[in-house]
Amino acid sequence: MRFAFLPAALALASGAAAVGVVGSAEGFAKGVTGGGSATPVYPSTTDELVSYLEDDEARVIVLNKEFNFIGTEGTTTEDGCRPASNTCGSSGQDAINEADWCTNGNAGDGSTTISVTYDNAAILGITVGSNKSLIGEGSKGVIRGKGLRMVSGASNIIIQNIHITELNPQYIWGGDALTVNDADMIWIDHVKVSLIGRQMFVAGTEASNRVTISYCEFDGNTSWSASCDGHHYWTVYLLGSNDLITMKGNYIHHTSGRAPKVGSNTLLHFVNNYHYANTGHAFDVMSANANVVVEGNVFQNVDTVLLENEGQMFTAPSTSANSVCETYLGHTCQSNAFGSSGSLSVSDTGFLSNFNGKNVASASAASAVSTASAGVGVVS
Ligand SMILES: *[C@@H]1O[C@H](CO)[C@@H](O)[C@H](O)[C@H]1NC(C)=O
Ligand SMILES: *[C@@H]1O[C@H](CO)[C@@H](O)[C@H](O)[C@H]1NC(C)=O
Repeated sequence: MRFAFLPAALALASGAAAVGVVGSAEGFAKGVTGGGSATPVYPSTTDELVSYLEDDEARVIVLNKEFNFIGTEGTTTEDGCRPASNTCGSSGQDAINEADWCTNGNAGDGSTTISVTYDNAAILGITVGSNKSLIGEGSKGVIRGKGLRMVSGASNIIIQNIHITELNPQYIWGGDALTVNDADMIWIDHVKVSLIGRQMFVAGTEASNRVTISYCEFDGNTSWSASCDGHHYWTVYLLGSNDLITMKGNYIHHTSGRAPKVGSNTLLHFVNNYHYANTGHAFDVMSANANVVVEGNVFQNVDTVLLENEGQMFTAPSTSANSVCETYLGHTCQSNAFGSSGSLSVSDTGFLSNFNGKNVASASAASAVSTASAGVGVVS
């Protein structure tokens, strides 16, 4: 459509393929358009990428190579700590003293002060303005050493088919990959996240409103594990004051915690995700207004599927119970599938009316969920 005004042969001859977002968002962020039909731009340097993301223009920004931010803002050496959780030394995670975490008791009894040296660029991500599409070409779009922040009123943003990696993975507080806070209409699709210091995804305490996270790969395989077992603990943390979050089709693997942790006023629809090799816990539902529907997912080798439920959850516990979803979600909820995993069976229904009038993602049977459709290089 974008090059409809060019004869097809000319478009091909000039090497210009019709580059753009593939597909459209399902679930709460349905209708997001990002940069829409803006002429694609191809940043060539990290500075240019930052400027395209931060400016006030609607933009389609295409990454056809790696953007390496490591070293671009220097390094810092200062006192941090080896927290009590790090019982395994160099294969554990030490911590930066961010928010006095090392000195206010959070690091635990027996933590010790140590010197830490970290890369500055990873500490604070790039601020993404409104009306942006950030997309990768094939498997080539990589952002190394810096995350993305959709904050301070940002809305209508699509991030698709890029890999965010290497944010001081050896350090707790080393950096967050994807941050949403005080935002609306955010779609994160087919994004891979690996080797992150802190959160792979975080929705902060302000309202993030409508967010869809679909077909992403959260790869927790790490040589610096807060749980000392090669698995990443800080996966997905949702604690917004008014958040509607759809997580559909994601592949979440080699994690050990917060996958996800859900608090504050969050309505989470967790559907058709593939959860594999979690040595700790998947869900931690930590407050009264945290409401979660869990349906049609695969839990394979997930040690503790539910750590605690202080909120309300409906986890599609039985075919007879699942039909209640029809009224509120527009479909019968799909049962989850469990292999060598802990159990999950909660049937709170009082909160299901919160789905009324919202865009709700569809659900397939858990047997149809595979990892092949998640991550970078598979959208076409
Ligand atoms: C985003 O696009 C909408 C619709 O065109 C427009 O009203 C709004 O001002 C834009 N936002 C920014 C920050 O440019
Ligand atoms: C984890 O990462 C290491 C280092 O890149 C790699 O050798 C290993 O195969 C990975 N393991 C899994 C299970 O992905």
